[in-house]
Amino acid sequence: METPFLFGKTVSEEAFTNRTADIARLSSNLRSHVNTILISPRRWGKSSLVKKVAAQLQNRNTKIIQLDLLSIRNEEEFYKLLAAETIKATSNKLTEWIATAKEFLKHITPKIAVGTDPVNDFEISFEWKELEKHYKEILNLPQKIAERKKLHLIVCVDEFQNCASFKEPLLFQKRLRTEWQHHQNVTYCLYGSRQHMMAQLFEKQSMPFYKFGDVMYLPKIERREWILFIQKQFTGTNKKITEDFANKIAALVQDHSYYVQQLSYLIWTATTKTVTKEIIQASVEKLLEQNAILYTRDTEELTNPQHNFLKAVASGIHKGLSSKEVVQDYRLGTSANVLKIKKALLQKELIDDSGAAVYFLDPVYELWYQKNILHKEIITD
Ligand SMILES: Nc1ncnc2c1ncn2[C@@H]1O[C@H](COP(=O)(O)OP(=O)(O)OP(=O)(O)O)[C@@H](O)[C@H]1O
Ligand SMILES: [Mg+2]
Repeated sequence: METPFLFGKTVSEEAFTNRTADIARLSSNLRSHVNTILISPRRWGKSSLVKKVAAQLQNRNTKIIQLDLLSIRNEEEFYKLLAAETIKATSNKLTEWIATAKEFLKHITPKIAVGTDPVNDFEISFEWKELEKHYKEILNLPQKIAERKKLHLIVCVDEFQNCASFKEPLLFQKRLRTEWQHHQNVTYCLYGSRQHMMAQLFEKQSMPFYKFGDVMYLPKIERREWILFIQKQFTGTNKKITEDFANKIAALVQDHSYYVQQLSYLIWTATTKTVTKEIIQASVEKLLEQNAILYTRDTEELTNPQHNFLKAVASGIHKGLSSKEVVQDYRLGTSANVLKIKKALLQKELIDDSGAAVYFLDPVYELWYQKNILHKEIITD
């Protein structure tokens, strides 16, 4: 039987739950040409949300251009990707692609290579010398095509923070911002999985993308939604779970989207008819085991003071970490030192300090840490 729980890939159909308010806001923004920046900790559901909204907005006059910067290492590759995806999204067949490329790129000569499937598979390449001189042509390509073809284009850029590792990141961002801010027929949706870096790119006054659009901090999916979802997915596959147990699953992983699905999946797989306490306990153990390699690596890379800081947080201290008692009890050095530790852990994306309190960003790492480092029992009932 096919599993009703999905993780490790974006979800947008049956396994997608709720997010009514987020869908409404993002959808209304994009329809109204408001550039939007989406920020959240890892795996809360940014990519899934954009995919869902994009699918709803796509029609004859609105086209979606989807870029993923995960494997893009420099400016040149970015321009190639943008040009290719823009042409693909706005032209139907090969002859049209070539015509579009010729018509809109005046100073750059694109080389188009066609693969085995001429409908989806083509590659575009440029001379870097030409491109470097006339990069504006590529940046303005979406707007030019949208104008001519009377389209609204929505450009979604996933893992946007990757551009911070290009050779001259600030110059690159300035170039983008300078051109993109004039686009009337193109709307940009920028998001990425490194929360801390994304916040830096968009919330710091000195950065080129400051105030580029509506910054949406994606919240978690609410508990009652998770309970309904979990119960529905079990019932739909002829298995049973009580409301209490569904609540337990979401609570154990602090409503974290990816982990709710992963833990539910483990429990669903271990259940023939009805979920029991024992199944939940065993599944939590399995969840920790499956992620242990990652957690061990992260833990090995900690300095001693960083370790001590996490010990305090894992023991339930979320505020006043630089107070005299905490500094003494957990051997954190001085209060100035605590700030330094915190900064390093924020940069490693291990903790979150929004709202003046400090939390583990990854709820399952916290469970693992409590069990393996603090030797605490994980209570599942
Ligand atoms: N609306 C949703 N309903 C149910 N599950 C969801 C939803 N959104 C996300 N998930 C779960 O969370 C997982 C991660 O989602 P997604 O990849 O969209 O997050 P992300 O924020 O883009 O992650 P990353 O930070 O790694 O890029 C999905 O594989 C799915 O299991
Ligand atoms: Mg993502």
